[in-house]
Amino acid sequence: MSQSPPDRQPKTFHVKSYGCQMNVYDGERMAELLQERGMSAVSESLDADLVVLNTCHIREKAAEKVYSEIGRLAREDGTRPMIAVAGCVAQAEGAEISRRARTVDIVVGPQAYHRLPGLIDDAMAGRAAVDTDMPAASKFEALPGRTRRSGPTAFLTVQEGCDKFCTYCVVPYTRGAEVSRPWSAILDEARALVDAGAREITLIGQNVNAWTGEDEAGRKQGLDGLAYALDSIPGLARIRYTTSHPNDMTQGLIEAHRDLPSLMPFLHLPVQSGSDRILKAMNRSHTRDSYLRIIERVRAARPDIALSGDFIVGFPGETDADFEETLSIVRETRYAQCYSFKYSPRAGTPAADMDGQIPAEVMDERLKRLQAAITADQHAFNRATVGKRTTVLLERKGRYPGQLIGKSPWLQSVVVEAEGAQIGDLIEVDILSAGPNSLAGAPVAAQAA
Ligand code: 5AD
Ligand code: SF4
Repeated sequence: MSQSPPDRQPKTFHVKSYGCQMNVYDGERMAELLQERGMSAVSESLDADLVVLNTCHIREKAAEKVYSEIGRLAREDGTRPMIAVAGCVAQAEGAEISRRARTVDIVVGPQAYHRLPGLIDDAMAGRAAVDTDMPAASKFEALPGRTRRSGPTAFLTVQEGCDKFCTYCVVPYTRGAEVSRPWSAILDEARALVDAGAREITLIGQNVNAWTGEDEAGRKQGLDGLAYALDSIPGLARIRYTTSHPNDMTQGLIEAHRDLPSLMPFLHLPVQSGSDRILKAMNRSHTRDSYLRIIERVRAARPDIALSGDFIVGFPGETDADFEETLSIVRETRYAQCYSFKYSPRAGTPAADMDGQIPAEVMDERLKRLQAAITADQHAFNRATVGKRTTVLLERKGRYPGQLIGKSPWLQSVVVEAEGAQIGDLIEVDILSAGPNSLAGAPVAAQAA
């Protein structure tokens, strides 16, 4: 493979994002930035002059995938695209990446990607193109406005970073401290997304419910205030938000779930473990009981709300009894869906050096049991929606002609045969049947709502 960077200005690019929804959002913003520079997107990485790998560092495999992807970026004629590594691996490893993978031309962290065009110039000129600064000025101000066409659903970053320092997690180091974007910047971007075709916006942040700001009148606002302001944007039908921390679940936000129909009845509220001993070692700063009480209040405000969570099995020191408590919090909560992971030691985090690291076989066994419990609940939740009449926002084509797939208010995928309906329509549907991962529905009337 050629070891030297390509010798002509890149005209085409391909952005590949791994990991969380914020990376998807960042990937879109980088694409817009490159388009602004006159470059155009291509769908295959080897056809691109520049490949941006927008990486994730949250668990082991995510970073390993990136290195094997870098190895595959070689063309048969011995050339290769210019390669930029962005995202959280770039932030965590910096210049070390280009030492380990010599074909990497650019390393750019999540708070510096607005400088990507300048880094391309540096790489072309043979200068070191590594930027993992966390500048005081927000990258958002340097990014172009959102004028490109949007699909029916869009992500909008409102908050970034984390001050919680859970002992297993790299996010506070890779994404930096908690920062809230200003009220007016968020509302402007939301209006632009709606003008560009979005009917649903998901507000995203590592601790999205920690968002704070001031409205036009200088009043202090939280995420609930932002949801009310978004609700008044004509054409915006649905509002979602993710990911929330239990400690930032304010009464105002809980009440917004009761009072604001456009705020979808879905809450992703990670708990990580059901054992107080492990929660303490994780530095989660909530207990099993305080978490369950929040869930109770949320359900009292919005009885049909779908709950979602994240779990880690095999955190250092986790005993069988601790794990049983995780299984029991799942049984008690009856989640609509969950993500569950084996603990992965991350260099530089406190948990990586803790005693009592759990053997792989034990983690495998616990993950299997946890996932079986979660899948059973997810199926039960889906079955409970059979017979309901609800709205579905159509997002994409299904596998067969005439089929469209959209989402219910509870974030379930719903497959419908909807003659005459189009992607982007919000239609009324009768839910006919349910599997573990999706529902089938029939439109109530042929016309779009
Ligand atoms: N190992 C395993 N899972 C982790 N998560 C975060 N850090 C780790 C880690 N070191 C999980 C948590 C978090 C989700 C985004 O990823 O469950 O909520
Ligand atoms: Fe990581 Fe904990 Fe912050 Fe979530 S709250 S991003 S798990 S440190």
